[in-house]
Amino acid sequence: MEIVILPDASEVGRVAASVVADVVEREPEAVIGFATGSSPLAIYAELARRADAGELDFSRVRGFALDEYVGLDYGHPESYHAVIDRTVTKPLGMDPALVAVPDGMASDITAACAAYEAAIDAAGGIDVQLLGIGANGHIGFNEPTSSLASRTRIKTLTPKTRADNARFFDSPEQVPTHCVTQGLGTILRARRLVLVAQGAGKADAVAAAVEGPVSASCPASVLQLHEFATVVVDEAAAARL
Ligand code: GLP
Repeated sequence: MEIVILPDASEVGRVAASVVADVVEREPEAVIGFATGSSPLAIYAELARRADAGELDFSRVRGFALDEYVGLDYGHPESYHAVIDRTVTKPLGMDPALVAVPDGMASDITAACAAYEAAIDAAGGIDVQLLGIGANGHIGFNEPTSSLASRTRIKTLTPKTRADNARFFDSPEQVPTHCVTQGLGTILRARRLVLVAQGAGKADAVAAAVEGPVSASCPASVLQLHEFATVVVDEAAAARL
């Protein structure tokens, strides 16, 4: 695992964006895995800047999001369909038909999860998967105790994650209780992983992921099993390393 420690959050975004940019420059139909949350926003802003400047072309790039809430209408601004559209698809100039988000509104969630896995396979797999990390070490919505071999499935959100994400909703009760997320096994199949974290609130989770045992109690520790995993953090998030 490669660890890159940078002075501040904007540098984290710039360096992680350069990994994606290199892949897209080489392969115009690259498959990129997108994460939601605040951590990757600086990456998307930098990629959008380079796309606007004519340096990068995302029009044929394919995308797969990590996760989605269950039962949250896609018209809701905090559904990950809406978030990915607002922060990734539109700013990067991607074709919406080429960007997939797990279906949290499906009547048959199990079948929708299997279809999502099949769609990733049909696209040839993910070239670069971007990841944030939850304060409890989750990646995507793979909460602690997630199987290291898990695939896309429905999960119950922990009280900690619901509390962390309550800031995006009018009241804590409105945070959905369940989600659909790519599994840890799904994430490990991507050809390259780039996890970003900024701020002191992530320092414990980053230390457990990078230096702790590989364990379902810190889902991000599975990155230790991947041949090409890069963790890009600012000094505050690296403070416990
Ligand atoms: C959410 C997302 C994760 C994300 C995490 C951290 O729960 N499902 O993919 O990594 O939050 O979010 P933030 O980057 O805002 O701290």
